[in-house]
Amino acid sequence: MAFSSPCSVAVLTLSCLLLLLVGSSNAQLSTDFYSKTCPNVFTTVKSQVQSAINNEARMGASLLRLFFHDCFVNGCDGSILLDDTSTFTGEKNAAPNRNSARGFDVVDNIKSAVEKVCPGVVSCADLLAITARDSVVILGGPSWNVKLGRRDARTASQAAANNNIPPPTSNLNNLVSFFQRVGLSSRDMVALSGSHTIGQARCTNFRARIYNETNLDSSLAQTRQSNCPRTAGSGDNNLAPLDLQTPTAFDNNYYKNLLQNKGLLHSDQQLFNGGSTDSLVRTYGSSPNTFSSDFAAGMIKMGDIKPLTGSNGEIRKNCRKIN
Ligand code: HEM
Ligand SMILES: *[C@@H]1O[C@H](CO)[C@@H](O)[C@H](O)[C@H]1NC(C)=O
Repeated sequence: MAFSSPCSVAVLTLSCLLLLLVGSSNAQLSTDFYSKTCPNVFTTVKSQVQSAINNEARMGASLLRLFFHDCFVNGCDGSILLDDTSTFTGEKNAAPNRNSARGFDVVDNIKSAVEKVCPGVVSCADLLAITARDSVVILGGPSWNVKLGRRDARTASQAAANNNIPPPTSNLNNLVSFFQRVGLSSRDMVALSGSHTIGQARCTNFRARIYNETNLDSSLAQTRQSNCPRTAGSGDNNLAPLDLQTPTAFDNNYYKNLLQNKGLLHSDQQLFNGGSTDSLVRTYGSSPNTFSSDFAAGMIKMGDIKPLTGSNGEIRKNCRKIN
């Protein structure tokens, strides 16, 4: 018998247990983390997310994206929620988030509601994870059990946000490598990109594509040009739906669009442009169930990125600032 770990049955001591836990950083995340300390967390969050989406259907997309932009920047640690202070510049004004990331007021409402039922117990990082799941479910997508137990960062990094969130100018190789860096596969990348079946993008992020790219359906190009002027600086914030068909329904239309050269972002169409991910796009386009199960698995994997656990970080009282 060969033990590769420093722990054998005979020496299962406390220090040895600690070693095992440190070895896998998400060892402490579990779906029942708050079952004793905040049994009502799920119903409380869900009703807040439901009313936010009732107010504005797009909010489900915005909340889902917050979780992605949190997890890709030094792990799922609530860092994206921190406001800038006089001593550090946070992530909200990093290029991928400025004039773009939204839903912070909704997160504040969710946090207040949860603080009322269990003060000081549930992290902002975990609230983003639950909120992302609830948003997808409310808009008609798949469900999954959310792993919990993340703690909140006491710092945020604008540079890390600029460097780790893939830009829409990325080609397929770039996209794969951004995901690889955080331990996600190219299959995860294609499945999680299905998030672009909901939500909106700004003209500045698709202008070059609609005026200059040839792998775009010409009638869609024309339609999008009508609300996105060619000249940089004019109409930069004008919006268009990422999924031209059902922008508030979480379905597999994103992939069906790609099959017809109707991806809005340059990066979207990269997933179906004669490369290694074409066949997976075809699969997701024809099999909603395969997409659903890969998407749910991808979200769980994304939620496992470098969480703070144990005595690292803190449970923020206000998601916008450290305690
Ligand atoms: C694969 C690389 C990805 C790139 C290059 C990318 C890029 C973008 C861009 C440029 C926008 C529009 C932002 C704006 O114009 O203000 C956007 C929107 C969005 N992204 Fe992504 N994204 C990627 C992956 C993801 C993933 C993995 C998720 C979620 C798991 C996600 C969820 C969303 C959602 C829901 C929206 C719409 C947000 C809203 O309407 O407020 N994206 N993305
Ligand atoms: C289209 O490409 C040309 C040539 O590279 C460039 O000068 C122009 O700025 C591009 N137009 C847009 C809208 O990106």
